[in-house]
Amino acid sequence: MKHFKKKDFPVSNIRRFLEPGPIVLVSSAWKGKTNIMTMGWHMVMEFEPSRIGCYIWSENHSFDMVRNSKECVINIPTVDLATKVVGIGNTSGRDIDKFVEFGLTAAPGTKIRAPLIAECYANFECKLVDASLIKKYSLFVLQVVKAHAATSPRYPRTLHYRGDGVFMLSGPNTSRYRQLFRPEML
Ligand SMILES: Cc1cc2nc3c(=O)[nH]c(=O)nc-3n(C[C@H](O)[C@H](O)[C@H](O)COP(=O)(O)O)c2cc1C
Repeated sequence: MKHFKKKDFPVSNIRRFLEPGPIVLVSSAWKGKTNIMTMGWHMVMEFEPSRIGCYIWSENHSFDMVRNSKECVINIPTVDLATKVVGIGNTSGRDIDKFVEFGLTAAPGTKIRAPLIAECYANFECKLVDASLIKKYSLFVLQVVKAHAATSPRYPRTLHYRGDGVFMLSGPNTSRYRQLFRPEML
């Protein structure tokens, strides 16, 4: 098989290869105000209970909102929301009401107070279950306590950030390798 010819690559940029998880919108509520931020740095940490780790920069307004309220919603936007996704990531809830500014609809959650974004394909209601790594790493360990997901289209056209202003759009799917999986790994 082919060996790739390689050059030194800046260590600080390796995230470009590791970031293809979908860009998400994190919605939160605290003291009667709501907010939204754009997020790429998240990871799945466990199936059951369903846990997600997220990096939220301490300068973001969302940092205090999620830390104080101990909850948020991870919303999955599709490509038609791309302009809003960038706008939400380039403004702060300290200055504006992002639901109003970006014309998004706040729908009530069922288990938490933070609002769902109705225009997103899926919404995961999350509780902050471990705050011990926030101070050191800005790492929020969340547990998904309720999930809402559309059924059509089956595979939403999601946005995946490559850095430097470039998005990869989710594309074709293949089940060609499915038979190679151990059933419990599916
Ligand atoms: C594509 C994209 C991905 C981003 N990913 C993250 C992230 O993973 N963590 C983070 O703290 N900020 C991330 N940001 C930056 C925040 O969305 C941005 O700082 C936002 O203005 C914070 O809003 P807030 O102050 O209302 O919380 C991202 C922005 C963009 C455009």
